[in-house]
Amino acid sequence: MAKKKISIDQLQVGMFMEADVRDAAKGGKSSGKKKVLLLGKGMLITSDNQIRRLKEAGLNDVIIDTSKGKDIPGGRIVAPPPVVKEVKKAKPPAGRKTFFKDEIKVAKKIRGASVQIVKEFMGNTATGGSIDTKKVALASKTLTGSVFRNVDALLSLTSLKNYSEHTYTHSVNVCVLTLAIAYASGVTEDEASVIGVGGLMHDIGKSMIPLEILDKPGPLSDEERKVIMNHPVQSERILREMGNMPEAAIAIAGQHHEKVNGSGYPRGLTGDQMHSFASMSAVADVYDALTSPRPYKPGLPPYIALRVVFDGKGTEFDTGVVETFIKSLGIYPVGSFVKLNTSEMGIVTEVNPEDSLRPKVGVIVTKFGKQRASPFPVDLAKEFKETGPEYARMIVAQEDPRHHNINIEDWLATPM
Ligand SMILES: [Fe+2]
Ligand SMILES: [Fe+2]
Repeated sequence: MAKKKISIDQLQVGMFMEADVRDAAKGGKSSGKKKVLLLGKGMLITSDNQIRRLKEAGLNDVIIDTSKGKDIPGGRIVAPPPVVKEVKKAKPPAGRKTFFKDEIKVAKKIRGASVQIVKEFMGNTATGGSIDTKKVALASKTLTGSVFRNVDALLSLTSLKNYSEHTYTHSVNVCVLTLAIAYASGVTEDEASVIGVGGLMHDIGKSMIPLEILDKPGPLSDEERKVIMNHPVQSERILREMGNMPEAAIAIAGQHHEKVNGSGYPRGLTGDQMHSFASMSAVADVYDALTSPRPYKPGLPPYIALRVVFDGKGTEFDTGVVETFIKSLGIYPVGSFVKLNTSEMGIVTEVNPEDSLRPKVGVIVTKFGKQRASPFPVDLAKEFKETGPEYARMIVAQEDPRHHNINIEDWLATPM
């Protein structure tokens, strides 16, 4: 609304009266009578007669509403400027500096580039070439930066496995999962970037193992098992020979298969003999290996892999690390296949750090049990029943996608 006070001489047909116009001479306090109403608020001036009557009543000025009727230059705006409510800028969730939707775009590029860098240095190692340490350090720094801005973005991408480039994606996944634990444990960003280098290079020793042993679908012979179990020693050696690798990164390379109860390999170290960063990478390594499909086994659903990690708490894995890891991944990590109260089923596509029970889900099976052609996105934290404040959908169970002929990999690769 725009209120304007104008002189009575400026009043024209087509103007809209904003306030009552009363006769100044008739009525009023002195007469004990209310002033006589000449024109009511909300009236439109439709004739020159009305204007004349107002002038005869001795009025000097009137208030018009220029948003509803005719306006003229001049006059005095009397309405206060409309109050512009300060729009509160939405803030990223707690512990996150950026929004998932923004970070995920960057994270995809960082992850893709990192996989290529791992591929390059593992290829170079296998053929006796040199490793570009600056490239590895930069990849680690970039991955660390993304984790420290919004850990959910890169974490969500760890559920995307690449079967043909398994070793390379595994290295990046272990790097990201270890970084996520480090971030949640309060490690500084500088220290974490050393973890990143260790994570990316932890299996570099595998580049010395012939593929027919590494990817053998059947059971391994004792000799082959020995070769495989020696890869941490090889990783450690390669990093040490590079001459400029931090001890923490070397420890990750050499100790990521050790177990806190001393049952791991290659040295059977116990928890207190292990580097704290290696304890983190040990959990990350097992989780990624369990959830990844291999020539001889399909990947486990995240909730089963999490249970395996949880069951090893205090025996195989450091208790604190396991707890931090489960907290970081959430109850329903990205890639989890869940059943909703509506009988629909879908894949968790984005965790909700403020309410881990209500992630975003891409529904792929209807309540009638039919697979959809494309996922239907629902935000369990934002959708309410039409009848009231109750949530429209909630997770009631985790399901094994294989029991429903669902290939999570295919669906995760579909934009949701
Ligand atoms: Fe390994
Ligand atoms: Fe590994």
